[in-house]
Amino acid sequence: MKPHATTYDVLIIGSGGAGLSLALKLAKSARVAVLSKQSLHEGSTFYAQGGISAVVDAQDSIASHIADTLDAGAGLCDPEIVRLTASYGKQCIDWLRSQGVIFTEEQNEEGQTQLHLTREGGHSHRRVVHNADATGKAISEALVARAREHSNIALFEHHNVIDLIVSDKKNPQQKKVHGVYVLNTQRQAVESIAARIVVLATGGANKVYLYSTNPHTSSGDGIALAWRAGCRVSNMEFMQFHPTCLYHAGVPSFLISEAVRGEGGYLTLPDGTRFMDQYDVRSELAPRDIVARAIDSEMKKRGIDCVYLDISHKPAAFIREHFPSIHEQCLKLGLDITRQPIPVVPAAHYTCGGVLTDSYARTDIGNLYAIGEVACTGLHGANRMASNSLLECFVFAERASEAILQQLPNIPTPPAIPAWDESKVIDSDEEVVISHNWDELRRSMWDYVGIVRTDKRLCRAMHRIEMLKEEISEYYGNFRVTSDLLELRNLVIVAELIIRCAQLRKESRGLHFTADYPCTDNSQPPKNTILTP
Ligand code: FAD
Ligand code: SIN
Repeated sequence: MKPHATTYDVLIIGSGGAGLSLALKLAKSARVAVLSKQSLHEGSTFYAQGGISAVVDAQDSIASHIADTLDAGAGLCDPEIVRLTASYGKQCIDWLRSQGVIFTEEQNEEGQTQLHLTREGGHSHRRVVHNADATGKAISEALVARAREHSNIALFEHHNVIDLIVSDKKNPQQKKVHGVYVLNTQRQAVESIAARIVVLATGGANKVYLYSTNPHTSSGDGIALAWRAGCRVSNMEFMQFHPTCLYHAGVPSFLISEAVRGEGGYLTLPDGTRFMDQYDVRSELAPRDIVARAIDSEMKKRGIDCVYLDISHKPAAFIREHFPSIHEQCLKLGLDITRQPIPVVPAAHYTCGGVLTDSYARTDIGNLYAIGEVACTGLHGANRMASNSLLECFVFAERASEAILQQLPNIPTPPAIPAWDESKVIDSDEEVVISHNWDELRRSMWDYVGIVRTDKRLCRAMHRIEMLKEEISEYYGNFRVTSDLLELRNLVIVAELIIRCAQLRKESRGLHFTADYPCTDNSQPPKNTILTP
């Protein structure tokens, strides 16, 4: 046993919206460390476009936000969590503004300045607070700047957490987390960090699919860490595909915000014909699952590579004002969205399931919390409504901070952490195994566990994932860890959890659509899928 060099009150894994807002809320009273496996900005938060849903308009109501969220969630939302989250909306926006986040404003008819609200699918009101089409950048830059200023917050970039260190392994009821093993990728050395409380804020798992809107950080690490440590995981079959990712070989992950449809953009076939009204009365503003499936169905039926999103009928100045980043990015690729339709395809976007938490973000393991996209709080049910995820990050950062500040005085200093053992591993001489398995895993998930599933496809996928899991585990046992290996080891667990949950659901509901059971089973009350390690 080697005593650890450093012990923190709270160790937060992740520097996205969830992790940094929690750090800022705790730092007055606690010594906090924030780990990020790349730079502090790299994570989904930075790339968020549309905005944050919040009831701030007098014409809107919390009851309406609740009703829309429950409707999108297709019977699986936890109504109490939905009520709690919707009620915190304005408080979250006020807190973000107090931290220096700037949101787009407009003048109302009386000449007063107010927040501009945009509209997205599933929302029955304009309810999305935003900074043009780069809301995440505005949030990330402000929160990182604040965190850098704070003497009680230690920030560690390029630190990739390998595993949680958990006590009492034989007694699941009494397990407690004491810290983490982490690969410092700049030194290529494994370190240990102890903490009285550990928080998973690691984001989603959407890189498990070949095509995704997410940055590379979204490899489901937190879900795999929690699962290996003994936490339950829920609703992993509900992986959300965003309907409109730019279809361009050079830029595989660029999102075209739902707000483009919210501000009047419509979807067309290559010949310019609109099709969404054949699928839903809300047309382009139906919830995401419906729009993504409609596009997938049109693409498969007609054998086309993409559909088009057209906002060129709006004035050019309006487009440039509302969507400056999208306009600029497309222009760089030779596409002028003020004059031309945008080629788009669906891509994996959001992980609705995750580590099961209660209303204060507590997990099954003592002193371990989970917030943000890594968690399954019950807010999203079978389908997340647009812009509810950033809201969830800030609401559950607030809830976790309340619980942590209350709990902290009663938690003793954690015990010494055993040193990382590298005596049985050597440097890898077969990196090709990693790159091959990385590709095979993500392609199998895309082809067999995508927007439309069948029993046979799920079975095929499981067969491949089991083989990959065995190979990756053997590789992990023999070679020194690298970031790619760690992410692959996590992705294969996440893939297995997604398939297992999908196989358990013998109906279609929300984001889970299977051609073998195309209807929703209304014969009994809907149930969340819960897996226990
Ligand atoms: P992230 O912001 O993804 O941060 C995860 C952090 O965890 C990163 O710092 C990463 O380095 C770190 N991490 C992960 N694994 C490890 C590890 N093993 N060790 C150390 N660190 C680790 N939602 C909305 O509500 N509105 C929107 O407009 C919107 N637009 C979006 C647009 C895009 C292109 C994308 C990809 C998502 C969008 N979403 C939107 C979803 C939303 O952005 C995310 O759900 C949310 O930002 C997640 O925040 P987070 O803090 O949980 O995780
Ligand atoms: C978008 O801008 O379309 C993304 C919104 C979201 O994922 O909530």
